[in-house]
Amino acid sequence: MNNKYILGIESSCDETSISIVKNGYEEIATVVLSQMDTHANYGGVVPEIASRMHVESITLVLEECLKKAHMTMDEIEYIAVTYGPGLIGCLLIGVNVATTLSYIYNKPLIPVHHIAGHIYANNIGRQLKFPLIALVVSGGHTELIYMKEDYSFEKIGGTLDDAVGEAYDKVARVLNLPYPGGPLVDKLSYKGQDTYNLPLPLDDNTYNFSFSGIKSAVINVAHNEKQKGREIRKEDMACSFQNRVVEILTKKTLKALKEYNVQNLIVAGGVAANSGLRSSLKTMCEKNGIELTIPEIKYCTDNACMIAAAGYYAQKTGKKADIDLKAQANVNLT
Ligand code: KG4
Ligand code: ZN
Repeated sequence: MNNKYILGIESSCDETSISIVKNGYEEIATVVLSQMDTHANYGGVVPEIASRMHVESITLVLEECLKKAHMTMDEIEYIAVTYGPGLIGCLLIGVNVATTLSYIYNKPLIPVHHIAGHIYANNIGRQLKFPLIALVVSGGHTELIYMKEDYSFEKIGGTLDDAVGEAYDKVARVLNLPYPGGPLVDKLSYKGQDTYNLPLPLDDNTYNFSFSGIKSAVINVAHNEKQKGREIRKEDMACSFQNRVVEILTKKTLKALKEYNVQNLIVAGGVAANSGLRSSLKTMCEKNGIELTIPEIKYCTDNACMIAAAGYYAQKTGKKADIDLKAQANVNLT
């Protein structure tokens, strides 16, 4: 087989990352520069600061990645880049670098949807098995996707309001935890008891999710306790919130697996790092004879390795961009 090396570029939010992947699944080198510490000072990602930081670091990240891989641009076959969705100012930096490199080195340019990247994080070091259901859970997305084959995405349900990671981060703020609070709520939940009577979010017959109600319920409890001069029991609230969220995600995912008659489940996105979700899905899959794949934690959060992996399959199915590729803040996965 003729080996193909894909250079992936990711800059959709607060990670500047470049990676080289061989044949869609073998990681050669990845560099991820996270801006998380800077944004933590503001309690969330500040788009203007994020795009400026991408500008400052992206060429250094590229140099470092090539150095780590002991490769030159001449050995790269394709350039894959996240063109959306994400913060527009941030996406523009990655897209500009990708189009410039594509022009200078005369390499084809492959547009990659950020969620396709998260899904293909499950293809690093192994290969996806079809048909499959992908549960995508991140700071910006909560979706159930049916895939019959490589690079074919059928969205069967999604959040009607907040994404699950967003709800985690908002609840963390109510609990006075620093940004990004998702991992901290996860950790805290193991120290508490499920004592708060929170609702099971959108427990209906659809594949859709809704997390704004449970988030408001947490805010209301905190508000009521404050009025009574009491503090919220953070550990118990974290435990109650996590249990409810994990329960509904597991329940609707199982429903999709059964109704679509699928034996493979993959999980994608930053919230795939959640230990409660990982263990609940593991138990559910063992009980129902489902093969479960969850990426290593380092591939769950934003990185360019997953973009390069997805790029390989995107070009195989004919996706190609011109030099005028536009970054798009909102774009559907197709
Ligand atoms: O996929 P990602 O890196 O960025 C987006 O594309 O959104 O996901 C980041 C999100 C944040 O909301 C963060 O709080 C959440 O993933 N997250 C977690 C955990 N680790 C990251 N949420 C709950 N439990 C975790 N362990
Ligand atoms: Zn992401």
